[in-house]
Amino acid sequence: MELTSRMMDGSIPYDAQGRLEPVSSGLGAKQDDKIERLKEVPLFEGCSQRQLRSVAKIARVFDVAADTVLTRAGESGDEFFLIIDGTARVDVTAEKHVLLHPGEFFGEMSLLDGGPRSATVIAGTPLRLLVISRRHFSVLLKEVPGLTQTLLTTLSRRVRAAEEQAKRLGSATHS
Ligand code: CMP
Repeated sequence: MELTSRMMDGSIPYDAQGRLEPVSSGLGAKQDDKIERLKEVPLFEGCSQRQLRSVAKIARVFDVAADTVLTRAGESGDEFFLIIDGTARVDVTAEKHVLLHPGEFFGEMSLLDGGPRSATVIAGTPLRLLVISRRHFSVLLKEVPGLTQTLLTTLSRRVRAAEEQAKRLGSATHS
C-alpha cells in the first residue's frame, strides 16, 4: 500500500513528536506558504507565479519519520515524490543502495510506464516530501518547465548506472 494510504489508515510509524502532517492543499494562507516553499526547490526555479500556483494546488507536503518505507519493490505505485529536506535511501538491489538528497526525486518510473515499483525507497532521515499523485502527474509535467527533460536525463543516468553494475557483476562472476 502506498505512503498516503498508509498515512490514512495509521499503519506507518510516527516520529518522536507523533507528527506526520500533510500540509493542507486548500486555498488561503497555507496555499501561499506552500508557494513560498516551492520557490526554494531548484526544480521549480523556472516557474512563473501562475505555474507555482498550479503546482501548489496539486502538491501535498508530508513530513515522514526516518525508516518509513515510501515505495516497495514489486508493488504498484501511484505517487511521485520530491525531497524537500532529508535523505532517502533507494535499495536498488541487496548490494546496491543509492542516497537521494534534497531536490532529487523518486517514484517517477511507475508513473511513467505503469509498471510496479522498481526499488524499495526508505526514509534515511526524517524527510519532508512533496507528493504528487498519478492523476496530477501530467499537470506537473505541463506546468514545470524543463521537468520532462530532467526526468529523461535522470532516467538515462539510472539506465547507464544499472548497465555498468550489470557489467561489473558479469565480469566478477566470470573471473
Ligand atoms: P519507481 O520504480 O516508481 O519506484 C522506485 C523508485 O526508485 C523509482 O521509481 C526511481 O525513482 C527510484 N530508483 C530506481 N532505481 C534507481 C537507481 N538506480 N538510482 C536512483 N533511484 C532509483
